Amino acid sequence: MLKITVRTLEGEEHKLEADKGVALMEPLRDAGLIDATCGGMASCGTCHVYLSDGWTEKCGERTEDEGYMLEGLEDFVEIKPNSRLCCQIQLNESHDGIDMDIAPEA
Ligand code: FES
Repeated sequence: MLKITVRTLEGEEHKLEADKGVALMEPLRDAGLIDATCGGMASCGTCHVYLSDGWTEKCGERTEDEGYMLEGLEDFVEIKPNSRLCCQIQLNESHDGIDMDIAPEA
């Protein structure tokens, strides 16, 4: 199991676990921390997170759809270099210990 640390907007820290091969969005949604309204289609923006130092590089490039969605959110929430839609990150062994903050909703 991969370990995940995520902080809410209120600063509460949650420690989660997930199997490799699932989207990072799934454990966050299952824990009730995000809505993930579109179910992982990169079209709602409710799974926006800010990855902690070092994790942006480990998670690779944004997908094309993700980039468009984040651009669309820019007028409503702060989009940072470490902004990701966590539905677009498929977990593998290299993500063990991943750490992030949930972004404000648009
Ligand atoms: S779950 Fe909708 S954009 Fe990620």
